[in-house]
Amino acid sequence: MKTIELQINGSTHEVSIEADETLLQVLRNRLDLTGTKKGCDSGGCGCCSVQVDGKVVYSCMMYAAGAAGKAITTIEGLGGGGTALDPLQQAFIDAGAVQCGYCTCGMIMNASELLATTKNPGEDQIRHAIAGNLCRCTGYTKIVDAIKLAAARTGG
Ligand code: FES
Ligand code: FES
Repeated sequence: MKTIELQINGSTHEVSIEADETLLQVLRNRLDLTGTKKGCDSGGCGCCSVQVDGKVVYSCMMYAAGAAGKAITTIEGLGGGGTALDPLQQAFIDAGAVQCGYCTCGMIMNASELLATTKNPGEDQIRHAIAGNLCRCTGYTKIVDAIKLAAARTGG
């Protein structure tokens, strides 16, 4: 075991980990940040997406130790980290883009990265941004609609 410091959603967490623990394992199992989902656990589904220094990573594919000293944002950190919803979260609800919800965290974390740099994304840009995220339920159309809605509401 070794102890590292992780900066998550603006707070510092000192956590003891095994050297081979992934960021996903630490988030869910040691810090109870279960909004980030475990799907394939092998880099193929995108539902474990978080942002590290503003860029999306698959947390199942990153050692937790490698994230030390970097700014980690999870779905719990959007919307200011309190109970208020981020515009993307609200838009997913309003557009009916959530069914089982398992993919939703990853979709939103990728969409959040897109909207941070692209204020008025076209449909191709939106679909490209979520291309690594699998959804078994929605057929994707309402997810794309939700991201368009969030972009419009945030000044796109
Ligand atoms: S759980 Fe990480 S990509 Fe599927
Ligand atoms: S809403 Fe079920 S996997 Fe996307």
